[in-house]
Amino acid sequence: MDLGSLAKEAVSRLDSVHSPESLEAFRVDYLGRKGKLTRLFDSLKGLSGEERRSKGQELNELKRLLEEKVKAKAGSVTSSGSKKDSGFDPTLPGLRPPLGRLHPLTQTIREINGIFERLGFEVVEGPEIETEFSNFTALNIPQDHPSRDSFATFYLQSETGRESPLLLRSQTSTVQIRVMQKRKPPLRVVAPGRVYRPDQVDASHSFMFHQIEGLMVDDRTTFSELKGVLQFFLRELFGPGTRIRFRPHFFPFTEPSAEVDVNCFLCQQKGCSVCGGKGWLEVLGAGSVDPSVFEQVGYDLKRVQGFAFGLGVERITMLRHGIPDIRFFFENDLRFLRQF
Ligand code: DAH
Repeated sequence: MDLGSLAKEAVSRLDSVHSPESLEAFRVDYLGRKGKLTRLFDSLKGLSGEERRSKGQELNELKRLLEEKVKAKAGSVTSSGSKKDSGFDPTLPGLRPPLGRLHPLTQTIREINGIFERLGFEVVEGPEIETEFSNFTALNIPQDHPSRDSFATFYLQSETGRESPLLLRSQTSTVQIRVMQKRKPPLRVVAPGRVYRPDQVDASHSFMFHQIEGLMVDDRTTFSELKGVLQFFLRELFGPGTRIRFRPHFFPFTEPSAEVDVNCFLCQQKGCSVCGGKGWLEVLGAGSVDPSVFEQVGYDLKRVQGFAFGLGVERITMLRHGIPDIRFFFENDLRFLRQF
């Protein structure tokens, strides 16, 4: 056989080699001590000088070529006999799946719910699309109150046959009404949720934000109990050294009413831009439930007393974490969200 066809035969046989075992068999067959090439080298002995040199050179070239090809092939065959390494290595450690986290507002809501749950309050929810009755009338908010204006509340297009339009609730106080219409006292509930107001968006205003409403009704629930509950709550939330101040205020649905402040923990009450130099931060509105609200839900005024309060979740979260702009909560920027 001439060297040309031997080379062809070898190369085509190598093509069908797909395992280390058959590669080794190929190597032994051609390049081994008793292999085809070795035998041809031996046969050179019988040739004359000139012929021996040129045949020897050709043989050496073929030997080098086959050695190279065997080496190259060794890198691509695997012991399982598959043509290609799939790249799957079951012995490697697993990939840790990326873990999500709760939005900072959800964290605040859950923490606040938890504090009130320890005081025996139940977490309830109400609808975001509301009636004028639940959002205003039942809460003793008069017909001509500015908060009823379409500049202050989002009204939905009236359905035909409906005499008063539906709206997006502007406060979670609506849930007070919904709960009292359905249940009899004693009641202890907190109601977290979204509220909507057509405010110009800026660093401290958003057209949508979150509030938590609280309501306790019993046969005798006094303003001093309201103070005790809120003091416990605010010390749990802001730390045991927190000082609390009740400032007289007016809300239509509570009487008497107060705005509740905590000492400014940012400046140690020396006065800073966050507390406006006052040394106090307003965090809540609260008061004793106005009898006219009880009347609207059909409670017997002689047998019930209660208190209510409401707070803004964004504001509390901004104060606790030193967040300067409410818009950060809603931009979905992971650089912000990953910090909580
Ligand atoms: N609903 C009030 C607001 O949106 C907050 C509030 C104040 C709720 C006093 C109350 C309360 O229950 O007693 O500004």
